Amino acid sequence: MDFTKVKENEERAILEKKEIVEKDFWRQKYHIQGIVGLINDPNGFSQFKGKYHMFYQWNPLGTDHKNKTWAHSVSNDLLHWKRLKTALRPDTRYSKDGVYSGSAIVDDEKLYLFYTGNVKDSDGNRESYQCLAVSSDGENFERWEPSIVNQPDGYTRHIRDPKIWKKDGKFYAVIGIQSEDLEGKAVLYSSENIKDWKFEGEIAGANHGKIKDFGFMWECPDYFQLKDEKTGEIKDLLVFSPQGLEPEGDLYNNKYQTGYLFGKLDYKNPEFEISSNFVEIDRGNDFYAPQSMEDDKGRRLIVGWMGIPEEEDFPTVKKEWLHCLTLPRELKVIDGKLYQVPINEMESIRGEKIEFSGKVTGEVKVGTGVTYELKAKFTDFNSDFGLKLRTGKSSETVLKFDYNDKKFVLDRTKGEQPDKRLRKVYLGDISELELTVFVDSSSIEVFINGGQEVFSSRIFPEKDANGIIVFADKDVNVEIQKWEWK
Ligand code: FRU
Repeated sequence: MDFTKVKENEERAILEKKEIVEKDFWRQKYHIQGIVGLINDPNGFSQFKGKYHMFYQWNPLGTDHKNKTWAHSVSNDLLHWKRLKTALRPDTRYSKDGVYSGSAIVDDEKLYLFYTGNVKDSDGNRESYQCLAVSSDGENFERWEPSIVNQPDGYTRHIRDPKIWKKDGKFYAVIGIQSEDLEGKAVLYSSENIKDWKFEGEIAGANHGKIKDFGFMWECPDYFQLKDEKTGEIKDLLVFSPQGLEPEGDLYNNKYQTGYLFGKLDYKNPEFEISSNFVEIDRGNDFYAPQSMEDDKGRRLIVGWMGIPEEEDFPTVKKEWLHCLTLPRELKVIDGKLYQVPINEMESIRGEKIEFSGKVTGEVKVGTGVTYELKAKFTDFNSDFGLKLRTGKSSETVLKFDYNDKKFVLDRTKGEQPDKRLRKVYLGDISELELTVFVDSSSIEVFINGGQEVFSSRIFPEKDANGIIVFADKDVNVEIQKWEWK
């Protein structure tokens, strides 16, 4: 097999397409995106020798889901990222049809990447190998392939996306898998030396324990613990991306979704004992396959792919690039509930500030902006109200509280994104609505009431669409602060 062309092809594609990409006004300012081509899942999110490392699924050759590599960027502040050379390419026997998703761990002064090698055999059948790569400098990786060749009986070759951690001197990984009955599951593996892995058991899945039918494949599982900031209780979380859920009202309206379960991982009789319902982690149009890590400040940070598989009909395809990652967020548990809050570092990019406060009836234009942070606090309302952002001749993104339905609604009907469906979440009887919104050239991330709910969506407004409007059917009291991004 001739793998010498893989790197050459990547370099040629960058040369050919970079100029077209860079001219696009939808290129993001503070989000990780591919220099050309398609990106998807965040991978190997970690901190090594003082720097944050982010790897991500990247097809340098086009905007389709092929030729997956691990692109690599590093940062000191989670906002300014420097691209390093591609960490892993599909140029080995065990990864020839894609270096698929996985995670990272730092151990013994080395950075290990644990990923899935995707291979199609000569009949086109899928083979999956869990593989390792190791680096001492955080930039050059030596491949150790494969680590897990065989999978347990009763499953198909859909096994991928290992998430690794260490506990009491032993390594563990949770991996997404599909049973022969075509049900999505999560399995646990363990290793004493990081090289040789042992199958421990199926810890959760569709038609496993309390969960009934729940999708045909579980992708990108993640397991971690958080300490409840109010009660002090340690909570275990299993985050995963099930494929195949049917929409139920406001739930599960994206092609595939991501959510979490609270529970307790039993290592002895491998099982994730579930203690909650499945909750969608993000209510927006574009959020999938997130990955978390704990940093040296003790924060549990999470980043998602701001995109969804098989929903690829985006206007940037003509400009030779597709998708980005979300901003990093911090996860917290407070009184038994999961919150997602913006990282403090966001304040470091605040530039010129405008403020507005007062009563609004009808529509009031309070400012302009294309890439910025906005905080809004609404009180004293008895009708629908909200914000219209990135408004122009033919575009606007509407964030609205639907007073009768008691729901928050994200409406991006006016813009060039093909998917015009609304996204909603029930908030109930509230007397105050507080929003923190991050608007980049082609995305919006909305944190509601201290991060109880989050909406992440791509938006494709016309060039220079920049209006910021407050509206209320009857009236509303509002306080707004907006910072242009430096
Ligand atoms: C999730 C996913 C993973 C896989 C990767 C391939 O979006 O399908 O399961 O490893 O993308 O790019």
